[in-house]
Amino acid sequence: MYFRVVKHPHDSDIVVKTCKAMDGTTTIEDPAVCIHFDLIKNPSKHELPNGFVLSELNENHAEQLIQDRNFGCPRLNLLFYRYILKNYPSAAVVEQGSTVPVAYIAYRPEGCLALGYTNPNYRGRGFLKVVVHEMLRKLKQLGFTHTCGYAAANNYPSVKGMLAAGGVIVENYQPDFIQYIPRHWTEDQCLSRFQA
Ligand SMILES: CC(C)(COP(=O)(O)OP(=O)(O)OC[C@H]1O[C@@H](n2cnc3c(N)ncnc32)[C@H](O)[C@@H]1OP(=O)(O)O)[C@@H](O)C(=O)NCCC(=O)NCCS
Repeated sequence: MYFRVVKHPHDSDIVVKTCKAMDGTTTIEDPAVCIHFDLIKNPSKHELPNGFVLSELNENHAEQLIQDRNFGCPRLNLLFYRYILKNYPSAAVVEQGSTVPVAYIAYRPEGCLALGYTNPNYRGRGFLKVVVHEMLRKLKQLGFTHTCGYAAANNYPSVKGMLAAGGVIVENYQPDFIQYIPRHWTEDQCLSRFQA
């Protein structure tokens, strides 16, 4: 069970206390920041290095996302990634002539950017900024006026990339991310709830 974006400290204290009272394992992630994007103000531009082109993700990329980053429970995440990549916009960068994204970002149904990633061999070349820009352009075209992204406050490349793409940190707001695994629960039990 994963509680996303729980307001710190009051709401998250209650969630942590309640989970702990039920036994099991409760993990609270590093403090995060919320970065807001005003899509009305945001100019849409990207500067891609030569030899790279914009692309997007689809259901078939779900496996790659699982390989790229381990969020635990890969079989459950695979179902979720296939769902969001099929139903929501995404943005990616590929090398010309390739279909394998070197950088990408997806969108979560609750209205925020998600799963930002750049292959380690391609980091520090502005690709996160490019995919965020492209995603904002798509969301704006779909009629959205706002979106946001979350990052651990100490994940400088992620925070800086989103700020460079026009985001603004929401002051005095710390969203917590809390994982709770009830005692005796297995991955199969979690999966069975989604595949019934
Ligand atoms: C976070 C991540 C997507 C950034 O990708 P990237 O393509 O290398 O990012 P960019 O090249 O666009 O750089 C973004 C900004 O961070 C800066 N930056 C890059 N690497 C950095 C580092 N190691 N330390 C500090 N700043 C760094 C860049 O200079 C740039 O800032 P600028 O626009 O002010 O120059 C990449 O590091 C990654 O995949 N990390 C693992 C997954 C992850 O943490 N995802 C974020 C989820 S919220």
